[in-house]
Amino acid sequence: MLENDITPSYILQYIRGITPAADDLSAAVEERCRREEVPILDEEVKSLLRFLLLLKPPRRILEVGTAYGFSSIFMSQFVAPEGHIDTIERNPAMWRKAKPNIQSAGLENTITLHIGHAQEILPTLTGPYEVILLDASMGQYGLFWEEIKRLLCPGGWLLADNVLHSGMTAKPRLEIPRRQRTIHSRLQAFLRTVLVDEEFASSLLPIGDGVLLSLKQMRGSEE
Ligand SMILES: C[S@@+](CC[C@H](N)C(=O)[O-])C[C@H]1O[C@@H](n2cnc3c(N)ncnc32)[C@H](O)[C@@H]1O
Repeated sequence: MLENDITPSYILQYIRGITPAADDLSAAVEERCRREEVPILDEEVKSLLRFLLLLKPPRRILEVGTAYGFSSIFMSQFVAPEGHIDTIERNPAMWRKAKPNIQSAGLENTITLHIGHAQEILPTLTGPYEVILLDASMGQYGLFWEEIKRLLCPGGWLLADNVLHSGMTAKPRLEIPRRQRTIHSRLQAFLRTVLVDEEFASSLLPIGDGVLLSLKQMRGSEE
């Protein structure tokens, strides 16, 4: 998105103007998603994700919300050797596109696509994961939190996208259109839960559509 209530558009234009576009394995799928208006990671979130993955290439990543497979293909470039990505998608219109995209990138052995609702799939996974990318229906993030806590290894981190929901999350309830109020209160509750969880060190960032970063802290014996 270029116009939003989170970052002024002149700042976005400036950042995008000086950041060279990456021509990588995921570029064709990204371009198709943008053309077909499939919601995917914003440029700035993608750049942050790349940075974090490069700091410590993970062996195991979990993603909730595959869409056409763009973000999985993007992240596959930054996993450790033999690294693996599990990604969950419930919408047939999405996973039917993701499957061939993953195949034509030659990543069938690196990316496993789990078809179904995350609420049903998450309890079947054993993990542990070093990185979890949450990029699904925002109103459901709170439902996933206990499973995310279980699945993340100590020292692992979560990136939850879209948590400021075009700035709406930060507004008083009465300013929110009625049909958005449930999502508004669920997102607020999710953020309150995570930000006070002492097992995690979290940071809520006003970039893209709002990003929550949460690191599962190591206890003394795990360092
Ligand atoms: C924003 S898109 C994901 C974009 C993708 N991460 C990317 O950047 O290429 C969100 C996707 O999450 C899926 N989704 C939403 N809620 C879900 C759930 N509870 N379980 C599985 N998939 C879900 C939607 O069908 C949609 O395709």
